[in-house]
Amino acid sequence: MTSRNLRRLMTDQPRDPATEVHRVADPSHTRVASYLANRDEVSRVLLLYSGGLDTSVMLKWIQDEYEAEVVALTVNLGQPGEDYEVVRGKALHLGALDCHVVDSREEFAREYVLPAIKANADYGDGYPLFTALGRPLIAKLAVEYARKTGCDTIAHGCTGKGNDQVRIEGTVATLGPELKVIAPVRSWAMGRDEEIAYARKHGIPVKGGLESAPYSIDDNLWGRSSEGKWIEDLSHAPDDDVFQLVTRPEVAPDEPQVVTVEFEAGVPVALDGERLGLVELIERAAEIGMRHGVGIVDHIEDRIVGLKVRDIYEVPAAAILLKAHRELERLCGTIHQNQFKPELDRKWAYLVYAGLWWEPLREDIEAYSEHVNARVTGSIGLKLFKGGLRVVTRSSPNAVYDAQLATFADSGGLFSQQASPGFIELWSLQSRMARRLRSDSGG
Ligand code: ARG
Repeated sequence: MTSRNLRRLMTDQPRDPATEVHRVADPSHTRVASYLANRDEVSRVLLLYSGGLDTSVMLKWIQDEYEAEVVALTVNLGQPGEDYEVVRGKALHLGALDCHVVDSREEFAREYVLPAIKANADYGDGYPLFTALGRPLIAKLAVEYARKTGCDTIAHGCTGKGNDQVRIEGTVATLGPELKVIAPVRSWAMGRDEEIAYARKHGIPVKGGLESAPYSIDDNLWGRSSEGKWIEDLSHAPDDDVFQLVTRPEVAPDEPQVVTVEFEAGVPVALDGERLGLVELIERAAEIGMRHGVGIVDHIEDRIVGLKVRDIYEVPAAAILLKAHRELERLCGTIHQNQFKPELDRKWAYLVYAGLWWEPLREDIEAYSEHVNARVTGSIGLKLFKGGLRVVTRSSPNAVYDAQLATFADSGGLFSQQASPGFIELWSLQSRMARRLRSDSGG
């Protein structure tokens, strides 16, 4: 039998369905997207640089592998405790032509986190989308800086297994169609150990040492995620060392604290009566939540690339502000608005999670959200205690609430209890008819 026939015979074999779902294309033989750079197209690269191991190895590797120049871009979205001078120094030390550090906290808070608050943004019951909100902004800045600094290609440190590649490359393809993309971590064959060996060989300093693989962390103003290590073992309860922001509830203060959040047209504007800019307000809310063990989420998540993964989230600010906002919005809305908006909110969160920030439907939904939020003015008091968070006070000039009507005491003739039986007779009419039909037919 010729080898060609043999091959045909082998490929014609019925495939085992169990292995079939795991078959993957070999990326070295296929250029699967028009925006991916061919080797000869790369001469100056804008690298999204965090200062961590992956992007540091990339900085060196791109220069060697592509014989290309690298301009680094580091975006400050309020990652707690980051020293940007150190990051910048490291990039220059590794041979970057330049390293731009951009403070985008204000824009991130106003243009990305705020619409998320107004949309009560939550994906999969617990993830307030901090990473998903940050990526389109980071990628938008990458396009801007690539153009400003004469780069032909954008490089990022995402793997091929996550959502972040979708968010970043989707943004670049949308906003910078003339630019190409390389994703070395996705395409190179280096595992963690090889990366560390490469780092050692090239004198790349790595914070936290090289010995044990750290958690994979991403953070900004709005929250922090940890992935990897024991988190991948679903039966493993969280080790204490994963919590770097939020105090563990069992060691939180024995005294509860009440915090009051004030909103104007859906925008949080004050904490405990003190007016604050949005960035500072978010930071302060985070501090209060952290102290009381609030905002820990142990989350199983359906990624858009098909994987189900576990994340440990620390989201103290989001826990407080989203809860307060949702409560106030419901107080100011009618039953019909309150049933409808969560459907749009869920769609908004999904689009953003799924990397479609630039999809017009997001803005269409925001137009509705803005209209509803125009009336979301007032304040909400929350009590925080050992990881718990509950609303204790509400006040709003727009509350669709009248204590006089709702009271068990006499409502002064404003609500006719005598009219209720007539309402009940009509309200239950169809249900009663349908029920009767079923019992008549013996069903
Ligand atoms: N699971 C979250 C998301 O998809 C967080 C991802 C964190 N990203 C990271 N590169 N560690 O948005």
